[in-house]
Amino acid sequence: MQTAKTISEVRIAVRNAQAAGKRIGCVPTMGALHAGHLSLIEKARQDSDFVVVTIFVNPTQFGPSEDLSKYPRPLQRDLKLCEQAGADLVFHPDVPTIYQKEPQITVSVGDLATRWEGASRPGHFDGVATVVTKLFNIVGPDVAFFGQKDFQQLSIIRAICKDLDFPIEIISCPTIREEDGLALSSRNAYLSSASRKSSTVLYQALCLAEELTQRDEFTLEQIRHKMHSLLLSQPGVEPVYATIVDTERLEELEQRQTKIVAIIAAKLGQTRLIDNMIIRL
Ligand code: PAJ
Repeated sequence: MQTAKTISEVRIAVRNAQAAGKRIGCVPTMGALHAGHLSLIEKARQDSDFVVVTIFVNPTQFGPSEDLSKYPRPLQRDLKLCEQAGADLVFHPDVPTIYQKEPQITVSVGDLATRWEGASRPGHFDGVATVVTKLFNIVGPDVAFFGQKDFQQLSIIRAICKDLDFPIEIISCPTIREEDGLALSSRNAYLSSASRKSSTVLYQALCLAEELTQRDEFTLEQIRHKMHSLLLSQPGVEPVYATIVDTERLEELEQRQTKIVAIIAAKLGQTRLIDNMIIRL
């Protein structure tokens, strides 16, 4: 496995792989890798011939109250895991390599970025969109892999490719969970043992939404209400939102459609968790 810290090293490695006729796959991450990330790399290994993993803790997607400096950066461990999962190249630039002094151009996302996660984290998705656009321009992949876990992020990345004409296939990978249903996330490490016990209610509320939307007994508004009540039934769980939206624009639905998504964000102590479930009716 190769590693690269500079843009020109990445471009040379990718150009060589392309010259050998290889299909380039890209897995963007912020490191601190867990089994969720590794499932993306393994999928990339299956669906492409040259797998580029990027590890970059992107400062522009952190809000002023979110602790960028505390984000874990276990680089040597991450490199080992990337190699075991089948990466060919890991790009792990430092901040000045990605962000020149006083950049004039950034990517700004429309109203898709103002709802749900965007409402709680102003500027977050512009930061994500800008860095993903830059990573796509640096790596130039044929295909890129993202987790369904961050459903709104995935929708925004699909919109970037459509609206900015990136010829990149975006593959959505299923959410990897703990045995009790909690979606893997680097934030789970911050949960107290009491919060960890309560946290499984997010997945239970999604399962409830799935079960109830598949029956005709309740309106979507009533189902939202039941999701909230279930979340509130666990000590220390503070719902931020728990709702049912369409899968493209993530607008709240009043009527059932053939494909919908239940989305949840909740605070447990200081830790904010998100999860979602796609439901086909
Ligand atoms: P990060 O949080 O490191 O996540 C990297 C990728 O792993 C994302 O596509 C995310 O959806 C996926 N992922 C996280 N938890 C997962 C799980 N439990 N199961 C499956 N996939 C999971 O998302 C980012 O980084 C950044 O915003 C990034 C896109 C890299 C831009 O900076």
